[in-house]
Amino acid sequence: MDLYEYQARDLFEKYEVPVLAGIVADTPEEAKAAAEKLGGGVVVVKAQVKTGGRGKAGGVKVAKTPDEAYEAAKAILGLDIKGHVVKRVMVAQGARIDKEYYFSVLLDRANRSYLSLCSVEGGMEIEELAVERPEALARIDVNPGTGIDKAKAVEIAEAAGFDAELVDKVSDVFVKLYGVYKGEDATLVEVNPLVLTEEGDIIALDGKVTLDENAEFRHPGHALLEDKAAADPLEAKAKENDLNYVKLDGQVGIIGNGAGLVMSTLDVVAYAGENHGGVKPANFLDIGGGASAEIMAAGLDVILGDPQVKSVFVNVFGGITACDAVAKGIVGALAELGSTASKPLVVRLDGNRVEEGRKILQDANHPLVTLAATMDEGADKAAELANA
Ligand SMILES: Nc1ncnc2c1ncn2[C@@H]1O[C@H](COP(=O)(O)OP(=O)(O)OP(=O)(O)O)[C@@H](O)[C@H]1O
Ligand SMILES: [Mg+2]
Repeated sequence: MDLYEYQARDLFEKYEVPVLAGIVADTPEEAKAAAEKLGGGVVVVKAQVKTGGRGKAGGVKVAKTPDEAYEAAKAILGLDIKGHVVKRVMVAQGARIDKEYYFSVLLDRANRSYLSLCSVEGGMEIEELAVERPEALARIDVNPGTGIDKAKAVEIAEAAGFDAELVDKVSDVFVKLYGVYKGEDATLVEVNPLVLTEEGDIIALDGKVTLDENAEFRHPGHALLEDKAAADPLEAKAKENDLNYVKLDGQVGIIGNGAGLVMSTLDVVAYAGENHGGVKPANFLDIGGGASAEIMAAGLDVILGDPQVKSVFVNVFGGITACDAVAKGIVGALAELGSTASKPLVVRLDGNRVEEGRKILQDANHPLVTLAATMDEGADKAAELANA
């Protein structure tokens, strides 16, 4: 889960990372009041969207007075930044910046380790810097067992080329940022820019944090950080039912058991779609091990709720949950959904108790259900129906 900048700022504060005061505002009036509350001096009004490059898109504006903060918020609220419409801004105290740096620590999946990136040339888009002048971006491996302690932080600061007199101060901040990473089970903590102010202080002026959803059970508070309004309603519904669902933008709804089978089903459907007007998979949905009627109904309900879906391909390999249980699940789900189930369903069953499963579906003889003998045949049929 990605956090908004203001949420990252709050977490930073909790771990004693130096940040400036910031107040969120949903209207220009609130932004003006926030600027007054911050003392009436210079503030920066910042779009709160979960995407980068806000500054370049006009989403970060300096305001010298509360009235200017009003105008800045008016200009930023409603702005579309890379497909994200700004609904909220943060009014942050203005800093007098001397230098801008870059720091991040992240999960390095390829190396099964953590990695810290750091540069004394922060502020600009770090991706560009990494490509154009890779030598200006230090990459330091971080052992997950020992993390970023003071010695490691000094190593990072020195590798990035910080002036000797700054190394001590800036490395203290790195240790605290690692505290956020470790303490909150994050997979990314990025600060761009980390600044040196004219007063000589090191401050995190921006923050991007990604939290590991697999560690949610350890952090009951993280649920509160979720932006329910912004989440896709179908994904939210799937989550409520503990379904593994990812919306894609094709027309063939997919339900399968086991991530591997569902992944290959997506491939096979995309391939079959080439012969049927280029239809594509509409989603990934793994109902996992237990394909009970309730789980099947919840899965179908999510998929049929997607207006783009024209047909559904149920591809199940019976294992511990045998095919007859899955077939009963499908029949039960269709009965439960009644007239909401209005799109054709192609079902391919194989594996444990396949004959019994097919018989249940044949006997039920539901007008929307077509049985397919193989995965290829099912994919082809579902693609054809989606294109009809
Ligand atoms: N509180 C502040 N006081 C003074 N200047 C600021 C403040 N916040 C941001 N700035 C300036 O605005 C620039 C852009 O801000 P910020 O890094 O938050 O947004 P961004 O980099 O454009 O967005 P993103 O990080 O999402 O790509 C900073 O590099 C900094 O120069
Ligand atoms: Mg930034």
